[in-house]
Amino acid sequence: MYHLECIECHRKYPDNEIIYLCKCGGLLDVVYDSDLQVSKNDFKGPLSVWKYRPLLPAKGEPVTLQEGGTKLYRIDRIAKDVGIKDVYVKHEGMNPTGSFKDRGMTMGVTKALELGMKTVACASTGNTSASLAVYGARAGIPAVVILPSGKVALGKLAQALIHGAKVLSIRGNFDEALKLVCNLCEEEGFYLLNSVNPYRLEGQKTIAFEIVDQLGWEVPDRIVLPVGNAGNISAIYKGFKEFKRIGIIDDIPKMTGIQAEGASPIALAVREHAASITPETMPETLATAIRIGNPVNAKKALTAINESGGTAETVTDEEIVNAQCELASVEGIGVEPASASSIAGLRKLVEMGVIEPDERVVCVTTGHLLKDTQHVLDVCPKPVEIDATIEAVRKAVFGNQESWRSFI
Ligand code: F0G
Repeated sequence: MYHLECIECHRKYPDNEIIYLCKCGGLLDVVYDSDLQVSKNDFKGPLSVWKYRPLLPAKGEPVTLQEGGTKLYRIDRIAKDVGIKDVYVKHEGMNPTGSFKDRGMTMGVTKALELGMKTVACASTGNTSASLAVYGARAGIPAVVILPSGKVALGKLAQALIHGAKVLSIRGNFDEALKLVCNLCEEEGFYLLNSVNPYRLEGQKTIAFEIVDQLGWEVPDRIVLPVGNAGNISAIYKGFKEFKRIGIIDDIPKMTGIQAEGASPIALAVREHAASITPETMPETLATAIRIGNPVNAKKALTAINESGGTAETVTDEEIVNAQCELASVEGIGVEPASASSIAGLRKLVEMGVIEPDERVVCVTTGHLLKDTQHVLDVCPKPVEIDATIEAVRKAVFGNQESWRSFI
């Protein structure tokens, strides 16, 4: 029913071969037989990753915590302020571990068991490791995670630790951690669950399915999302393409990737109309989730952006923090910095005239606010410490308006 296929040379591999890159070095995709017949009626149960099982490459029982089914919120106040009519947030921070990674891990760890793998492993800027630790625990198999020391938000680190992963912190960045884990998996026979693994992306493509489902089987004009290792933008694009191929939708949204200014190889390649990226050796941003200089899925992401008529743009750390505060205080949606880059990017692209005022846009917010709270405490007003008397409370409430929302 499906096989693995190289996106460059189109060489095919059977679905049970443990392989992450083609012999030619190209990325792999899961490709379904062209006569696959699936309709809306085949999707059963509540909104979730596994609702779309007829389009997922799993044979056995899923390893699941009921991931997906995240809400699609309208954000009318921000939309009005930005000058665009129809904006939604797909809040992926509402997944079981607080990020979209769970969609990939429920699929990837299910596949690991199906393939008889005994240990799972990944490199991570934080969220992937948290998710892998959880799904490893759920499956009853050990997980090894390699992290860039000092650059992982504490909420994510705490998750990886308490869920029982073997946590290794390297003196190096994410790109170096990824190289190491690839070697480790090759040498030790561990199952690699970074987004270079095409099965993981199959889980993540359900973001596209859910958006269409939630919009009453309609397609938005544009998807705006943060880009780090570039797996998610590639996966979501694949999801839309598959829905189009089986006749559920007619159009594909413009895939629009946002990167932090200090870690922006894809946005730079798009700006220069280059066919490939130039890796950055010293990526830096406060949005540590996307602090990546050599995105492994760059080729897939550039195809997604170019084929869909989308674009990629950079935002500064300051724009990210402002967008995070705005989304939290004006719309009540708490997201981590990387996720807020989608809102910062939306604002910038509207101001640049790239996004038109009449577009229907979905911004994907990839991780929850509680993942990364240290810098929130740094940028928000401090709690006002007072005596435990009603007079002091009154004085503080009415006497110091300035401390109320002064960061907006
Ligand atoms: N947003 C968040 C919150 C992330 O954690 C990541 C990636 C991204 C966006 C970018 O997604 O890599 O598919 O382009 N985090 C990875 C990790 C790298 O290790 O947790 P991408």
